[in-house]
Amino acid sequence: MIEIKNIIKSFPNTPTPVLKGITLKIEDGDFVSLVGKSGSGKSTLLYIISTLDTPSEGEIFYDSKNLKDFRPEEIYQLRNRNIGFVFQFHYLLTELTAIENILLPARKANEVEKRRDFAMNLLNTVGLEGKAHRYPAELSGGEQQRLAIARALVMEPKYIFADEPTGNLDSANGKIIMDLFKKFNQEKGTTIIYVTHDVDFAEIAKRKINLIDGKLV
Ligand SMILES: Nc1ncnc2c1ncn2[C@@H]1O[C@H](COP(=O)(O)OP(=O)(O)O)[C@@H](O)[C@H]1O
Ligand SMILES: [Mg+2]
Repeated sequence: MIEIKNIIKSFPNTPTPVLKGITLKIEDGDFVSLVGKSGSGKSTLLYIISTLDTPSEGEIFYDSKNLKDFRPEEIYQLRNRNIGFVFQFHYLLTELTAIENILLPARKANEVEKRRDFAMNLLNTVGLEGKAHRYPAELSGGEQQRLAIARALVMEPKYIFADEPTGNLDSANGKIIMDLFKKFNQEKGTTIIYVTHDVDFAEIAKRKINLIDGKLV
């Protein structure tokens, strides 16, 4: 379970805080969409929940343990083993093939051989069968994003955080990605939190969180 308590986030150049006291519980196996207007603080909140950024005030707990009390190697373990990240722009490595990109988190964890078969399965699951040895530049935008999702899933993380994962995709590719999230949530109990602008995609979640001007409504 993830709990965040009274999170405030200010940036040096913003006159008022971007997040104005956010308290939220995310249960294991939850499937949450985060919606709100552009500039309402969705990405900032997602980065803070997912350990990529730190709050100005407030606390974050993973399974009742305060993030402030995690040692650096514990944070590294949490990020690399238990968290999968998906961004609107996918940051694939252009000089690695599709399968090498998927296996990148496994390489960091020294589990390339252990995860290779699973990575191949994932490649097929995301509809890239036969394209293991293509480079990102040889794939369409939708295929690249699906590849990024396979990479986020290769360590079978407990949590997936996704910032507008379907933001630059057509609706058919967007649906493929949402279906994948649904499948992992149902079959593996993966906890999923995603930001979206799409009204229909937001409704797929079990729970919808709405941010207005840095506050939950
Ligand atoms: N690193 C930063 N430095 C200064 N201001 C920032 C930074 N990141 C975000 N902001 C500001 O915080 C507000 C919320 O941004 P963001 O969380 O990206 O919103 P959203 O994802 O909902 O569009 C915006 O006004 C944005 O300009
Ligand atoms: Mg954003």
